[in-house]
Amino acid sequence: MDYALITGASSGIGLELAAIMAEKGHNLILVARREEVLQALKVKLENQFKVTVEVVAMDLSKSEQAQALYEYCTNHHLIVNCLINNAGFGDYGKFDSGKLDTYQNMLQLNIMVLTELTALFLAGMKQRKFGQILNVGSIAAFQPGPNLAVYAASKAYVMQFTEALSFELRGTGVSATLLSPGVTETGFVSRANMSEAANAKKGLMTANSVAMAGYRAMMSGKLNTIPGWKNQILAFGSKIMPSRELLLQIAGRILRDTTELHKKIENAT
Ligand SMILES: NC(=O)c1ccc[n+]([C@@H]2O[C@H](COP(=O)([O-])OP(=O)(O)OC[C@H]3O[C@@H](n4cnc5c(N)ncnc54)[C@H](OP(=O)(O)O)[C@@H]3O)[C@@H](O)[C@H]2O)c1
Repeated sequence: MDYALITGASSGIGLELAAIMAEKGHNLILVARREEVLQALKVKLENQFKVTVEVVAMDLSKSEQAQALYEYCTNHHLIVNCLINNAGFGDYGKFDSGKLDTYQNMLQLNIMVLTELTALFLAGMKQRKFGQILNVGSIAAFQPGPNLAVYAASKAYVMQFTEALSFELRGTGVSATLLSPGVTETGFVSRANMSEAANAKKGLMTANSVAMAGYRAMMSGKLNTIPGWKNQILAFGSKIMPSRELLLQIAGRILRDTTELHKKIENAT
């Protein structure tokens, strides 16, 4: 039986992708750390739709977990024809105020695991001459991200890697698609400590609409999708900016550190 494997399926965009794909009849392998959430989702989706859902609870930021996940699928004869590398997180604040182990986990999850899972599952897809890979990037990839320096750089990797891979895969029956969301209503914003950041609460897209855009793009073998016209304008703007310095100034203003401002407001109230 063939499956779609979704990392980070316990909440946000990954959870919505799981629901959309189950509705369309795909069997699923759901991966995240919170096992009870995944088990509840499995019960719900299997009851609602005619699909089989497997749950693998693991912390992907620990080394060698991609290999362990691949071996689990192989040992259980789960054929993965669709790989969705969605799990990821950010951490808002100045680079030198963040923790090194947070950055290490972020790079492991956002970059290493995504690359390893792609390498491991791609071989079978190419052999079968069929498969889809969806990598979840971010519009943060289109410019440097002051106060989100490591996260934005990690998503720039996801963008460049996916675009190059999709070119290499032409004519093989396997496609690679990049989904680049803007700020979306999920647990991401609070985990990244961004709730206080300028504009973080304005005009958020829903996780469902972002997931639907990603699903459609992936199924049609499209290379890139940026959900939402505001995000498309931001991405286009960064491409036509006359200088990197100007781009940096604008990005710095949008992502400005509001910590001091909020401290003042707290002290005054
Ligand atoms: N929301 C936004 O504003 C936004 C914007 C642009 C791009 N994105 C990208 O969209 C993707 C999904 O994020 P989201 O917004 O849906 O955030 P979310 O609601 O926080 O979901 C993140 C998912 O990743 C899983 N995860 C986190 N750390 C993990 C780990 N160490 N091992 C295994 N699973 C882990 C979480 O599950 P557990 O906690 O159960 O492990 C959860 O299922 C990320 O790649 C993010 O960078 C989000």
